[in-house]
Amino acid sequence: MNILLIGSGGREHALAWKMRVSPLLDKLYIAPGNAGTSLLGQNIDIAPDNFKAIRKAVLENHIDMVVVGPEVPLVKGISDFFLNDAAISHVPVIGPTSRGAQLEGSKEFAKQFMLEHNIPTARYLAVTSDTIDEGERFLKNLKPPYVLKADGLAAGKGVLIVDDIDQARNELRLMLGGKFGKASNTVVIEEFLSGIELSVFVVTDGHSYMLLPEAKDYKRIGEGDTGLNTGGMGAVSPVPFADEEFMQKVRNRIIRPTIDGLGADEIPYKGFIFFGLINVDGEPYVIEYNVRMGDPEAEVVIPRLQSDIVEIFQAVAAGDLKKLTPRIDPRTAVTVMMVSGGYPGSYEKGKNISGLEHVEGSIVFHAGTTSSNGIITSGGRVLAITSLGDSIDDALEKSYKNASLIEFENKYFRRDIGFDLK
Ligand code: AMP
Ligand code: GLY
Repeated sequence: MNILLIGSGGREHALAWKMRVSPLLDKLYIAPGNAGTSLLGQNIDIAPDNFKAIRKAVLENHIDMVVVGPEVPLVKGISDFFLNDAAISHVPVIGPTSRGAQLEGSKEFAKQFMLEHNIPTARYLAVTSDTIDEGERFLKNLKPPYVLKADGLAAGKGVLIVDDIDQARNELRLMLGGKFGKASNTVVIEEFLSGIELSVFVVTDGHSYMLLPEAKDYKRIGEGDTGLNTGGMGAVSPVPFADEEFMQKVRNRIIRPTIDGLGADEIPYKGFIFFGLINVDGEPYVIEYNVRMGDPEAEVVIPRLQSDIVEIFQAVAAGDLKKLTPRIDPRTAVTVMMVSGGYPGSYEKGKNISGLEHVEGSIVFHAGTTSSNGIITSGGRVLAITSLGDSIDDALEKSYKNASLIEFENKYFRRDIGFDLK
């Protein structure tokens, strides 16, 4: 079959790399892709939310399935767009319709969903400028620090955690006044949960689900988890504290009620669900839902999946996922993200990348690269260096050795990925 993959980051390179080895795959197209995906299929220069151009590419290239990497096209309704157009409605889209994508697209929707279906999460109140007084009263009844979240998509920047009540009240007003544009017309105020975070992933056909390996990502730019938030500077899978007892709680209290809740609310859902969880004294709580794989988590989760991912996607589309059991590599996978100096602030693009040919024992997933007289940087996150090993240290040693062989001006990477898990 021919598949069109939407997206251009390390997650998409990992998905493309995995799909490429499937005997079920004929041609692979990636829109828009990067220099890494161009070695596995044909990149097509289409933005992920240009549905008309995607439709044209699907028809021209006889695409049999669309796999969506990032959240924006899902929240904007790419799956609905396909279902509602007779010329392309036969092409399954791996990714939920816009209603299901509200689990990520609206924090208020997600919190309401969890409340309704009894899924453990932090106490909250959703506030608009009409209910700001209620919001202030709710804040007063919480203990610091205070968590304020823009309801809508804000490119990972819409969450503020502040220590001081006056600052929290002030930020609430700024957010409702447009600090994150329309995304913060509604603000979710939450109780702060203290614990260690992890990401759990499933793929679902709306009835059954397949649990994929869990992972932990490292969001801050600086070592010791300091400095500004980024898209993710590295990841590790498995997560040692996610033992059988903990994961059983996750399955019983969080995953199953989520899938059943979608069914009860008549929200058909075919795709990935990413549970952003926090372990509070051994008890799992949901911090957030995402309706896609994580990035850089995909760069450790996908390499541990030994099953044919195209077969999994076919079963998702057909609604018979329950017939499959995943095969998982028991080894530890780590990824170390090499980024442009200055990221997540301003940084320069267009730097030549050299040394890729010296890499041995790791997989290099491209995150922000393009081809132009060789391979050059085109984003903040540039390359994800993934390795498998018998331990975190064993895997990290390979990734760090290879990261030191790859050069581009002002390259930076964290040297302490996994520090809290060892
Ligand atoms: P979110 O976009 O909802 O994942 O929030 C971004 C980050 O803020 C999370 O990864 C957590 O580190 C932190 N965070 C969000 N909500 C809470 C909460 N209720 N308690 C503690 N930390 C939180
Ligand atoms: N690494 C977190 C995310 O993909 O949202």
